[in-house]
Amino acid sequence: MNQSATEQPSVIYLKDYEVPAFRVEQTELRFELEEEQTLVRSQVRYVRNPDSANRQHPLVLDGHEALELQRLSIDGEVLSDKDYRRSGEQLLIPNLPDHFTLECITRIEPQNNTALEGLYKSDGMFCTQCEAEGFRRITFYQDRPDVMALFESTIVADKQRYPVLLSNGNMVDAGEEDDGRHWVKWQDPFPKPAYLFALVGGDLQFIEDRYTTSSGRHVVLKIFAEAKDLDKLEYAMNSLKHSMRWDEQVYGREYDLDIFMIVAVDFFNMGAMENKGLNIFNTSCVLAHPETTVDAGFQRVEGVVAHEYFHNWSGNRVTCRDWFQLSLKEGFTVFRDSQFSADMNSATVKRIEDVTLLRTAQFAEDAGPMAHPVRPASFIEISNFYTLTVYEKGCEVVRMLHTLLGAQTFRKGSDLYFDRHDGQAVTTDDFVQAMADVSGRDMSRFKLWYSQSGTPQVSVTGEYDAQSQRYTLHMQQSCPATPDMATKQPFLIPVAVGLLDPGGEDIPLQGGETTEVLELIATEQSFVFENIPVEPIPSLLRGFSAPVKLKFPYSREQLVFLMQHDSDGFNRWDAAQQLAVGIMSELIADHQQGRELILDPALVDAYQQVLSDTELDRAMVAKVLTLPSEAYLSELAEVIDVDAIYRVRRFVRDSIANQLETLFLRVYQDNNTAEPYSPDAASVARRSLKNLALAYLMATEKQEYLQLALQQYRQADNMTDSQAALTLIVHSGFVQQASEVLDDFYQRWQNESLVVNQWLAVQASDPKEGALARVQALQQHPAYDGANPNKIRSLISIFCAQNMLNFHNTDGSGYRFLADQIIVLNKQNPQIASRLLTPLTRWKRYPQERSALMKAELERIRSSGDLSRDVFEVLSKSLV
Ligand code: PHE
Ligand code: ZN
Repeated sequence: MNQSATEQPSVIYLKDYEVPAFRVEQTELRFELEEEQTLVRSQVRYVRNPDSANRQHPLVLDGHEALELQRLSIDGEVLSDKDYRRSGEQLLIPNLPDHFTLECITRIEPQNNTALEGLYKSDGMFCTQCEAEGFRRITFYQDRPDVMALFESTIVADKQRYPVLLSNGNMVDAGEEDDGRHWVKWQDPFPKPAYLFALVGGDLQFIEDRYTTSSGRHVVLKIFAEAKDLDKLEYAMNSLKHSMRWDEQVYGREYDLDIFMIVAVDFFNMGAMENKGLNIFNTSCVLAHPETTVDAGFQRVEGVVAHEYFHNWSGNRVTCRDWFQLSLKEGFTVFRDSQFSADMNSATVKRIEDVTLLRTAQFAEDAGPMAHPVRPASFIEISNFYTLTVYEKGCEVVRMLHTLLGAQTFRKGSDLYFDRHDGQAVTTDDFVQAMADVSGRDMSRFKLWYSQSGTPQVSVTGEYDAQSQRYTLHMQQSCPATPDMATKQPFLIPVAVGLLDPGGEDIPLQGGETTEVLELIATEQSFVFENIPVEPIPSLLRGFSAPVKLKFPYSREQLVFLMQHDSDGFNRWDAAQQLAVGIMSELIADHQQGRELILDPALVDAYQQVLSDTELDRAMVAKVLTLPSEAYLSELAEVIDVDAIYRVRRFVRDSIANQLETLFLRVYQDNNTAEPYSPDAASVARRSLKNLALAYLMATEKQEYLQLALQQYRQADNMTDSQAALTLIVHSGFVQQASEVLDDFYQRWQNESLVVNQWLAVQASDPKEGALARVQALQQHPAYDGANPNKIRSLISIFCAQNMLNFHNTDGSGYRFLADQIIVLNKQNPQIASRLLTPLTRWKRYPQERSALMKAELERIRSSGDLSRDVFEVLSKSLV
């Protein structure tokens, strides 16, 4: 919905929550899908809610300007426009009995729905996206998660064009009409909120499998896609079966319907959606094939399939009372899928990847104008709150509960939670209460993690007293003000600690354990360890036990020591990160002062050691040798000096490459084995180390390594190796070869939409001068489609997020380009427009010249008029 210039969108507050005036017993839907229109008839049985404070309340139905109301009747009596009132997009019906059936017929135009919310068309097929508030674009309804109903849906459509008609639950009936149309009726036996409703109609193929649950229920599994993608569904099917087994074993959760379906769609605003029994997936999160999908893509498919499946319990059986509670289902489900991926692959590598994302992007969100708590207190547009804070920090909060309670008690807590709230719409307080009840712990301080925004900082120092053999850790915590909250109370921060002796062994702590979880609850607190025979080196925040920024005054020697000896794999990696960050931060200062850049040999030595150690896990070696990203260095910087960060990172990379060249070549050759492709953890690790070595070799800019990369590009039998080589060649200074491989790649893959997205992304992230012009030219390329979110993300988001130098060009061209895109998308697809805004909202973090240019573009968007709620909210918070 677009706002007129004068009318300000209203803010919705958690504190204003009221139970709905009516409950719904049953929702019957009938869809007539046609080319020019869709007619929707809903018949809803309402009952006045005895819990509602005011018995005089009208029935308040949410709607949308795209709905054309054709008929409203109550218990068969047609209403005239005097019987109800329109207020904004809502429809209010007063003077209602305690029980009645409301029939409503609306006309909508899915074929013109470019926002991709509600019922829309993706590549000729009908599909829905109702979370969070898309159902109101289908019919007038109490579109809120605490209204749960039994759904029955009948879909009517032309049989030739739309042979497959799907909805939630079980198919109960089907038939044909004389006019070439057919119909299918679906019934979902579980009550659900409207946001979990789904419908699909199209010419789809599927693969099928079977699964028997631990209690013996037989479930049919089907994954649907367009015919051309039928060969890319097997990996998702296996991931699904693994997820189903895992959820039984680890959480005691079984699947509850006779059929589980996944449908792949090309046009989708997000990753995937957990609609009851009928998950709808962005093709990018379900299709996988060795020839077209990179390793990270396989892992994403596995993780997202699991995530959506796990929602069947954490989200669907137990859902959210209101959208402020979004993290109730998302934080918990992300935690569940991260545990699953850790179990399927390498736990340490998964942890490193998750923490990297959190520290780079969620910490930046906390430090920006949109900062909000895991459970926000207010919003204008809920779509803006599907954030890293709600998902990733929300996951960290659940992980802390797991750490504090231990796996067994946590499981008791989750059992109690599912048991107590099955079929209900509840709050994050209810979740924590279940954990409090099984552990007997008071969780009131812990709950501040849900209500306070910002990234806490913890400063730690150590003190050793040889006489008394005592080691003391002194800790201080604070949390910076955020735009939504000036002061914060101290958090309960679990700090997992180990102490290393000078030989690198863990010193046994209380009870013989080598890791102890300290609970920091005060602003300042000291923790004493007794019987410590020598001065230890502390290993702090093991496994990243809390989402905080922790500082300890380690020397570089100590960091190298931890890299080599820490028994906690995550902290070994983190020591390497801290070493690199320390060295690079100093170099950034040198660059700013115009001093010559000299790389501390400690880093090269440490990397050399890691590379030479053939005992080490390859995945870990690759992670350790990956320099902190430009985005992470930006997040850490007080003021973001784009040029200094870029130059220094290049300088460090090139220096390491030149000094360790022979070693990298050996590592490349050792790992360049010709076994058939498999996405298992060991093979992924081998490819990631090999391609990391190739990246360093290419940094030397030597002809011979170009030849190596070209050879890999030509000979690769899998997309991981071919894309790695492609990226290195395209981003190198060998422009002739770059343009040749780009052409070759496109010729070969032009009919694979997801591969074409990679082709776009490689060019969008090319740091060489002139990238913006190339991006603009690509917008005109037949491969590009400005209505498809995946294309927009591959070209525009990647350019703005991963092409630092070009996006932040001091002539302001990158900012102007992005603003132009947002102005168009604001009308076309507000959710995507609003997400694209993110890089500009960080304007205050940049030096004056750039920051003024960025701000001016935000203002230009604001004055372009007719802003969607999505864009309005982000702009109004960014421009204060
Ligand atoms: N609920 C989805 C998930 O996290 C995400 C989503 C939100 C998808 C809104 C579409 C729209 O699994
Ligand atoms: Zn989710």
